[in-house]
Parts: sequence; structure tokens; C-alpha cells
Amino acid sequence: MTPVTYHKPVLLNEAIRYLVTDPHGIYVDGTLGGGGHSAHILEHLSEKGRLFGIDQDDDALKVASERFRGEGRVSLIRGNFGYMDVLLPKETDGNLSGILLDLGVSSHQIDEPERGFSFQKDGPLDMRMGELQDLTAANIVNEYEYEALRDLFFTYGEERESARIARAIIRDRPLETTGQLRDTVSSVIPERFRNKSLARIFQALRIEVNSELNMLKRALEKGTALLREGGRFVTITYHSLEDRLCKHFFRYGNFEGKPVKNFYGDTITPLQNVTRKVVTASENEVAVNPRARSAKLRAAVKLQIDPDAGTGMGTGAADKSADAGTNHKSGKKGGAT
Ligand SMILES: C[S@@+](CC[C@H](N)C(=O)[O-])C[C@H]1O[C@@H](n2cnc3c(N)ncnc32)[C@H](O)[C@@H]1O
Repeated sequence: MTPVTYHKPVLLNEAIRYLVTDPHGIYVDGTLGGGGHSAHILEHLSEKGRLFGIDQDDDALKVASERFRGEGRVSLIRGNFGYMDVLLPKETDGNLSGILLDLGVSSHQIDEPERGFSFQKDGPLDMRMGELQDLTAANIVNEYEYEALRDLFFTYGEERESARIARAIIRDRPLETTGQLRDTVSSVIPERFRNKSLARIFQALRIEVNSELNMLKRALEKGTALLREGGRFVTITYHSLEDRLCKHFFRYGNFEGKPVKNFYGDTITPLQNVTRKVVTASENEVAVNPRARSAKLRAAVKLQIDPDAGTGMGTGAADKSADAGTNHKSGKKGGAT
């Protein structure tokens, strides 16, 4: 299998332009996948540069290790990027020049029916991104109480018919396959809304199975601590829940989106946005790669440690630094700024 059929990288040039500022630096690709972004990062590194590629999926690691065979600058690591502080060697602490997270699942994972990610293919209700977790979608669908299921679909899927769908699932239990779940959801949702509801229900289950939002929060906090001053954090997200976390964290250093001020009234934050507005894919890219349609890229730089702030963090007016990107979307149009 060639890497391109495994997964076509999204916002490739934009991601690397924001990420790589020092060709001799140490970089982390926390979502290695088929290695599309990693390969492009390597093209921008000198012989001294280093890249750590992390993935929790053995298939991804297999494809990437084939792709980077004999490439001495690359080290591949099996694990969850939420634990990058534990997975990476000690000497990277405070020395990273950049971290990239291209979130979600790869095309390969979606295309394999036995992984259970797609409602368009029949397979077991699994949805684990890697073998490191125990919880599967079948556990959730068959064991969660009504209220827990309803709240899960509402919170992680933003599904308005979450109560009705949760009731139908309990009625039809046990459910073992993606096809059975699709039939259950379809029995209570009119045809014209069905695909959107199915996408939201599958998204909610995937987020829960893989603790996606908790792992993202941990990665943003721990990853920022690992960056050197001037190091970059770049994220590519595919739904509003994860985009909101990145947006708030890059701007305020917390997930609530609340400014924390010092004695002088300056916002205390470890990072500063380098993308003034969210970066999205061009029409040309979306035409050849529909997955790029929902992608949102954000990038931030680690601020200088300010001893006067007394917190070990820098202070800065967010959003004022140079913005070298293209394809920016305004808050109104993109739904996020
Ligand atoms: C969208 S794909 C990345 C594709 C990659 N950028 C490329 O160009 O081929 C996301 C990958 O990240 C992995 N992944 C998602 N969440 C993860 C996590 N919390 N820890 C480690 N790997 C994760 C998935 O297994 C998948 O292989």
C-alpha cells in the first residue's frame, strides 16, 4: 500500500510553513498517520534536525516505518500524544522547536470496515484508534445508561435528537455492528436529516472511546511545556469541539477562554497566536481532498519566559505577531476565529 492511498495530508504546505522555523531543530509529529506531514517536515530540516513521530495505531506505525526506513533523523513512538511528556526522551524537554497535531482519524482507519469508524460500511462497533485502549463503541452503546448516552450524543455530537436516539438504542440492544447502529438511528430520524445525525452519533462515540478531548487538552498543556521559547504549536482540527479547545488555549493558556491578567493588567499566557485567523483549505485542495473541507489550522508560538510575571509564563497581547499564512477565514464565515 502506498502512503498516498493510506492518507492524503491536509493543509500540508500551510502546516509546515507555520511549524518549521529552525531547520536544525527537534520536532514532534504527534499524529504520524501515513507520515505525509512528517515527510514534508523532513524536507525542511537539515542533517542536524530531528523528528519524533507518535501514533497509537500499529497500522500507521507499520506504514510510516516502511516509509522512513534508513532515515536517521526520524524516531517513531507508539503511544498517545497526550502522554508525549512521558514518551519523548528527557533531552527534548524545553528544547522542542515545533509540535504538530493533525487530529482525528486517517482515511485508512475510516476505510477499514473492521475498525468500525464508518456508518457507511458494516463492521464491528469498535472505533478504537489503537490497541492500547480497552473501551469500544460496543461497550458504550450496550452498557451506558439512558442519561449517559443522551448526554454523550448531545455534548460530543451536538445532536439535537440525542434523547430520541438514546431511547431507540436502549430499545434495540444488544447492538454489535455499525450496520445495526445505523438501522437503529435511521428508525427514529427522518431520511433528510439521517446522514448528518449518523455522522454526529459516530463522532460522539469515537470521541468517547478514544478520550479525544481529554488527550488533546493534556497534549496542549504538556506539549507547550516541552517547547523552547519561540517553538511553534500547530493544530489541524476537524470539528468545533476540538477547534474551540485549541483556540482558547492558544489565546489564553486555558480551555475556558478566560483571560488571566497580571498585576499590570497584561494577559498572562504561555503562547501567542501566529495565525491571526483560522486557516482553512483552498477550494482547489477541497476539490481533490474533500476531507480538507472541515479542516481548521491554528498556530501559536511559545513566548519568552518573563521573570517579572512571577508565573513562569510570558505576557503578550495575543494575535499581534506576523501572520505568514493564506486562506484565512473570518469568524463569521468560518464559525470560529
Ligand atoms: C488525521 S491522521 C494524521 C495523518 C498524517 N498527518 C498524515 O499526513 O498521514 C491522525 C492520526 O493520528 C492518530 N491519532 C489520533 N489521536 C491520537 C492520539 N491521541 N495519540 C496518538 N495518535 C493519535 C491516528 O491513529 C491517526 O493515525
